[in-house]
Amino acid sequence: MFGKRTTTGGPAVPPPAAAETPRPAAAPPPPKPAASHGAGLSDPPPPPPRSTAAASSKPAAKSAPPPPKEKVAAIDSRSDEYYRTKTEVFNALIDTIDLSQLAQLDQESAREEIRDIVIEIVSIKNVVMSVAEQETLLEDICNDVLGYGPLEPLLARDDIADIMVNGAGTTYIEVAGKIQRTNIRFRNNAQLMNICQRIVSQVGRRVDEASPICDARLADGSRVNVIAPPLAIDGPALTIRKFKKDKLKITDLVNFGSISEPGAEILRIIGACRCNVLISGGTGSGKTTLLNTLTAFIAPGERVITCEDAAELQLQQPHVVRLETRPPNLEGQGKVSMTDLVKNCLRMRPDRIIVGEVRGPEAFDLLQAMNTGHDGSMGTLHANTPREGLSRLESMITMGGFTLPQRTIREMIVGSIDVVIQASRLRDGSRKIVSITEVMGLEGDVIVTQDVMRYEIDGEDKDGKLIGTHRGTGIGRPRFWDRAKYFNMEGDLGRALDALEEGGRQ
Ligand SMILES: Nc1ncnc2c1ncn2[C@@H]1O[C@H](COP(=O)(O)OP(=O)(O)OP(=O)(O)O)[C@@H](O)[C@H]1O
Ligand SMILES: [Mg+2]
Repeated sequence: MFGKRTTTGGPAVPPPAAAETPRPAAAPPPPKPAASHGAGLSDPPPPPPRSTAAASSKPAAKSAPPPPKEKVAAIDSRSDEYYRTKTEVFNALIDTIDLSQLAQLDQESAREEIRDIVIEIVSIKNVVMSVAEQETLLEDICNDVLGYGPLEPLLARDDIADIMVNGAGTTYIEVAGKIQRTNIRFRNNAQLMNICQRIVSQVGRRVDEASPICDARLADGSRVNVIAPPLAIDGPALTIRKFKKDKLKITDLVNFGSISEPGAEILRIIGACRCNVLISGGTGSGKTTLLNTLTAFIAPGERVITCEDAAELQLQQPHVVRLETRPPNLEGQGKVSMTDLVKNCLRMRPDRIIVGEVRGPEAFDLLQAMNTGHDGSMGTLHANTPREGLSRLESMITMGGFTLPQRTIREMIVGSIDVVIQASRLRDGSRKIVSITEVMGLEGDVIVTQDVMRYEIDGEDKDGKLIGTHRGTGIGRPRFWDRAKYFNMEGDLGRALDALEEGGRQ
């Protein structure tokens, strides 16, 4: 029961039933990487599953060939022999050590204590090891007892965007836009559950059979979701969106080819001339990153208030107030929702309000804020196209219990949102800004939009990388032209639009 060794000294939580539920000996369940990319799958208003429904209604082809064998990224290069030794030493350590006393120590002293005992065990048991091997073993065992165990090498790597653990035996990572399986494994589901518990206890929460779903944050800012058995059938599922310390800048996006230079210039103008912006995209398509990039164009003198579920944005401006929602505590009390935060923002004299992710009735308050003098407010939402984004906004308001006529809601949307920027993760793993779309107005009951820029796929190179171009759509004067003029940027905008046209023609 080394799980008692939480560094926070929080209450020990017995491993849930998962510990007793042995994983089926059969091969691990087939991976479902696609599931994490369904737009809005995890969101309250389920997306209109047009295409998925159509796909699932097709009868499954019985003679489908077996899926190609998965490549496994060898993160963990240690042998089975090493693991046998480690388990032996680990068990001896657990028998020897007084866990309750260890819990009293600070992290450093606890590590020292464990090291001393492990060295003693290794010599008593006559384990033959080089100094380097012994160091690895010590580090490994300390990580197991005090840290995040097998997750540590993944957490240490900065190039990993997501870590997805599907039960003790299966861990996937996303690197450079591609999901790959790793050979990282946990001893069993009980160890995995212990680590999940250790993570969430740091934010004063617990995850067990009674409350099997939990969101948390690591000390480094990484976003964590845990869903435990019995809801997760094959053992605890842990998902970590790694926090990137060095957030991507607009120049990085240009270097990666996510946007062209003239496209980036248009984004700069949109950000600086205080357009109200909605960033739309699928899960992990780069919405938050793009939002963060756009905030770089906010003038230093503006008072910016950010509202997020888990603080991910890193604004560089001096005058920023960061707010975060709060889940209910164990007694189900104390919840502070996004709507509460956005409402409160309005009493804080903001110049701009930035909502990390709009997913519920706060949409109404955000639109109202945009409508009432808080120009330049921004938010992201899950949607596959700008049009779908706008209709999701509408359904969020309707589902929030506002009994407004459809036309009134649409008028509100049209009156508030100036630009929708669509982010997308393409099939080659690259992330692109695929369109910049203006909201023009209402024609009858229909919201009229017009693209200022579109990313068009021209082909594919021999390595399977998509080749495409960010093209202008020939619009000489977008609707935000007057706004750009007001901010003395119409010259820049005109040049950027021309360059976009030029680039598109090449
Ligand atoms: N243009 C880009 N090029 C390369 N990597 C990117 C790009 N944009 C974002 N990323 C990386 O992709 C990962 C996911 O990005 P981000 O968190 O912005 O996505 P998201 O759409 O907000 O995801 P979620 O739906 O989970 O909130 C991050 O690791 C980020 O650094
Ligand atoms: Mg995000």
